[in-house]
Amino acid sequence: MMEQMLGRVLVIVPTYNERDNLPMIVGRLRASVPEAHLLVADDNSPDGTGEVADGIAAEDDHVHVLHRPGKQGLGAAYIASFRWGLKEGYDVLVEIDADGSHQPEELPKLLKRLTRGADLTIGSRWVPGGRVVNWPVPRELLSRGANLYTRLMLGMPVRDATAGFRAYRASTLEKIGLDNVQSQGYCFQVDMTLRTIRNGLRVAEVPITFVERTAGASKMSRGVFVEALWRVTVWGLTGLPRRLRRTR
Ligand code: GDD
Ligand code: MN
Repeated sequence: MMEQMLGRVLVIVPTYNERDNLPMIVGRLRASVPEAHLLVADDNSPDGTGEVADGIAAEDDHVHVLHRPGKQGLGAAYIASFRWGLKEGYDVLVEIDADGSHQPEELPKLLKRLTRGADLTIGSRWVPGGRVVNWPVPRELLSRGANLYTRLMLGMPVRDATAGFRAYRASTLEKIGLDNVQSQGYCFQVDMTLRTIRNGLRVAEVPITFVERTAGASKMSRGVFVEALWRVTVWGLTGLPRRLRRTR
């Protein structure tokens, strides 16, 4: 019913060394959103995740694989996947981590919110009802700090702008355009949120429970952090004149 209202849904799963997680996440997604198609976007993982994905795709016509030449960052993987999905005519494009942190069982809630008048829905850790399970204190402080800095610099009314569990309408991606998105790491999420809002589109946050991974390792790095810090700072400073004009 809900899927009839939304049209065709593509769930994009970016992977880098997620061999031990991929069968789990694909199985859970296929069970929670049976009509949806899946696209695994693998950056030629040294651990052979790409071959695992090919094996799953060979047995299931709802699963597709995008092989990329090497590790080029989360943003680049999503841009290539969005292009693939738009070309194939999907109506909704979903982002979800491969490691189980974003629970596929909560995806119908995000999709439902889209039908109730939103152009982008974000599965949010930092709205009332949102939770994080098993994160060490420093990592929680990093995420909360990053979101606080982002909100102060950019003035967006979004509590979890770095979140990687999202559903975009195809029309949203077409309107904001993908050609000049340069963010490579996790600040890609902030970049896309800002573009969505600046285009006058509606962003809705839905509370989720984020569960830290039990297999494999995080790809968060100093490089990802530094890129996010400088880009958010530049966006904030270059957007400041516009914000001052508006409040006057
Ligand atoms: N293809 C590809 N290329 N996938 C990548 C890359 C890359 O360069 N870097 C990370 N990924 C994939 C991982 O394999 C995983 O499926 C997902 O992206 C998230 O990576 P994690 O390494 O598990 O992220 P995290 O748990 O540290 O970070 C979480 O919080 C961030 C900040 O709030 C995620 O939810 C991020 O999406 C979020 O931005
Ligand atoms: Mn993770």
